[in-house]
Amino acid sequence: MSESAPQASASGGPEIGPPLWLLAELTYRCPLHCVFCYNPVDFAHAGPELGTDDWLRVLREARAAGSVQCGFSGGEPLLRDDLEVLVAEAHRLGFYTNLLTSGVGLTQERAAALKAAGLDHIQLSFQDSTKELNDFLSHTKTFDLKRRVADTIKSHGWPMVMNCVIHRQNIDHIGTIIELAVELGAEYLELANNQYYSWAALNRDQLLPSRAQLQRAEALTNDYRQKLGDRIRIFFVVPDYYETRPKKCMNGWGNVFLTITPDGYALPCHTARMLPDIDFPNVRDMRVDDIWHRSPAFHRFRGFAWMKEPCRTCPEQEKDLGGCRCQAFMLSGDAANADPVCSKSPQHYLIEQAVARAQLPDAERVDAKPLVFRDPANARPASRF
Ligand code: FES
Repeated sequence: MSESAPQASASGGPEIGPPLWLLAELTYRCPLHCVFCYNPVDFAHAGPELGTDDWLRVLREARAAGSVQCGFSGGEPLLRDDLEVLVAEAHRLGFYTNLLTSGVGLTQERAAALKAAGLDHIQLSFQDSTKELNDFLSHTKTFDLKRRVADTIKSHGWPMVMNCVIHRQNIDHIGTIIELAVELGAEYLELANNQYYSWAALNRDQLLPSRAQLQRAEALTNDYRQKLGDRIRIFFVVPDYYETRPKKCMNGWGNVFLTITPDGYALPCHTARMLPDIDFPNVRDMRVDDIWHRSPAFHRFRGFAWMKEPCRTCPEQEKDLGGCRCQAFMLSGDAANADPVCSKSPQHYLIEQAVARAQLPDAERVDAKPLVFRDPANARPASRF
């Protein structure tokens, strides 16, 4: 790291706050093979995983740099035998801790150990309300196990947070997905409309719902919200392909969110690793505070100075910061372009084309390809779509 690296607010934006949200991606290993997995499509070529001591140091450095929330994810984080050790240290340091899991490996014994370690919160993923589709989309027989794990979570006193990624294949089941969450005693349900990155981008034609499906699902969700009142909080986020202004991705590049990959790279979002020409720092070589405040990678898209037209002179630039850098790269080939979701982007037609394909019945979609499951055998270099 050179002495002349950029300083805190050199990019023309406001002062840089702390990396409030730390996402510790402990491993890319996972027993499931979900077709919408957000892990990189070339995950099989990642370097060796950080060891326990490395992670303990990262937790201490991140807390010292001002992180307050720590999510343990993967892959499947329960595949790490040291998860309880890491959770205990994060708890001791004062983090609010969250485990994002498929449920595979959450036995009664491990749940008790994680409770004793101070884990605050567990988010359990389902792929669908039916065993058939849940098991098909994850390419594993996990539905019954997930139901048992939901009981385990409740019996240890954690709030039950169910997450279900929503897409073309399951969006018409939204009512039964909500009913499953109620049956399991979930206090929160995240109906997370698929975002089209990584494996979901590969499978976009089969996963992007039609506008009519989306409108029906949103209306039904609102009906259930009224009917269920305070029994459960339901979050429903519209996929940005149906918007005309982009999302303020990650609340801004290098603003609050810090991901550490299993092999130690520090990223401002889950997927930035695929962006070319950015040398992302590694926690094996650099302290978290230096990464956050002084690495060129974390300054690359802070503030407004990097923007091109139409963002450069757009009166809405502070609202969305030009949208998502990864989506801009995947769709337009240049991460510094406006996110093509924006109707002012010259590449917005690419979004319109994808949406138009999604309106077609399956049989009428030309060049229809089979779903690609997340699997090392299907790993491929990250590329544009
Ligand atoms: Fe990387 Fe949006 S996902 S900046």
